[in-house]
Amino acid sequence: MTKIFAYAIRKDEEPYVHEWKEAHPDVEVDFTDKLLTPETASLAEGSDGVVTYQQLDYKADTIEALDQLGIHNWSIRNVGIDNIDLKKAKELGFKLTNVPVYSPDAIAEHAAIQAARVLRQDKEMDMKLAKHDLRWAPTIGREVRDQTVGVIGTGHIGQVFMRIMEGFGAKVIAYDVFRNPVLEQKGYYVDTLDDLYAQADVISVHVPDTPENVHMINDESISKMKDDVVIVNVSRGPLVDTDAVVRGLDSGKIFGFVMDTYEGEVGIFNNDFSGKEFPDQRLADLIARPNVLVTPHTAFYTTHAVRNMVIKAFDNNLNLIKNEKPETPVDLDKEF
Ligand SMILES: NC(=O)c1ccc[n+]([C@@H]2O[C@H](COP(=O)([O-])OP(=O)(O)OC[C@H]3O[C@@H](n4cnc5c(N)ncnc54)[C@H](O)[C@@H]3O)[C@@H](O)[C@H]2O)c1
Repeated sequence: MTKIFAYAIRKDEEPYVHEWKEAHPDVEVDFTDKLLTPETASLAEGSDGVVTYQQLDYKADTIEALDQLGIHNWSIRNVGIDNIDLKKAKELGFKLTNVPVYSPDAIAEHAAIQAARVLRQDKEMDMKLAKHDLRWAPTIGREVRDQTVGVIGTGHIGQVFMRIMEGFGAKVIAYDVFRNPVLEQKGYYVDTLDDLYAQADVISVHVPDTPENVHMINDESISKMKDDVVIVNVSRGPLVDTDAVVRGLDSGKIFGFVMDTYEGEVGIFNNDFSGKEFPDQRLADLIARPNVLVTPHTAFYTTHAVRNMVIKAFDNNLNLIKNEKPETPVDLDKEF
């Protein structure tokens, strides 16, 4: 009987593992909450494939351990493959899949909700309420429909964000290095980033973290933006020069900042520091500000997205085992 073994299954993923298992009575499915390491590889003994999700590195020793068990079908439930020794995986004849798109709506919706909350000064009002200060002023809101929203990057997530902001009644403009023909026809695109900076009241970045895009939001770009701009980054921490944003917040140039991703977040986000020394003073300062909304890379974290990550990864793995073409293979030949 075909067998798939899954690693690092969280409690919130378990119902979807069971769902997939029930839909595939011909496949034996087993899982652990442990990460895949050289030590835990043996848990998958006798399996035809493994399904994993972790931020820690999969080094050569982990990959060799799977190889020794004769397991070469490997499906990850997330996007990133930069923590995998792909050279070793290729050398040992692994077949790999990932899940590049699991729910753009999860991320876009989070960006839209947070941007609207910043415009309404919700956090400031919440902080006042917590002190039993129930006065209105000066915590007055700005309506989304009065804003021009500038979207940088009109891929999977940027497009959904545009649709949601239009639903609120905002004027939406966009910039992308590769224009989407449908959006182009509808006249969303401005010619340059400078045009977008000059016109937008809310600016949301939805581009990948490539070397060219590192710190694309910096002192210079912020200086080109309108006063009282709201900046949204639910994409990748390195896209934003955090110190430059802090300067913009301090000077009053920036009205508010939405931050779901942070430079150097690995090892900090998704950890509990309550009652312990907090490891990053700049982050603590941002979290404390009434006009900054920090979330620890949770934009993707919805039932819809988590279900898709699990179901798609298992589907992919079964495809690999059956020698069928999976929906989203990782081309190891292209990587090297
Ligand atoms: N916070 C989260 O939980 C979470 C989850 C998934 C993805 N993300 C991030 O969201 C971002 C967008 O993801 P996506 O799936 O929409 O990507 P995508 O590949 O579908 O779209 C990215 C778009 O950005 C454009 N682009 C690249 N560089 C650009 C630049 N310098 N200027 C303008 N446009 C540029 C590309 O042409 C493309 O159209 C990525 O950074 C991704 O890592 C965050």
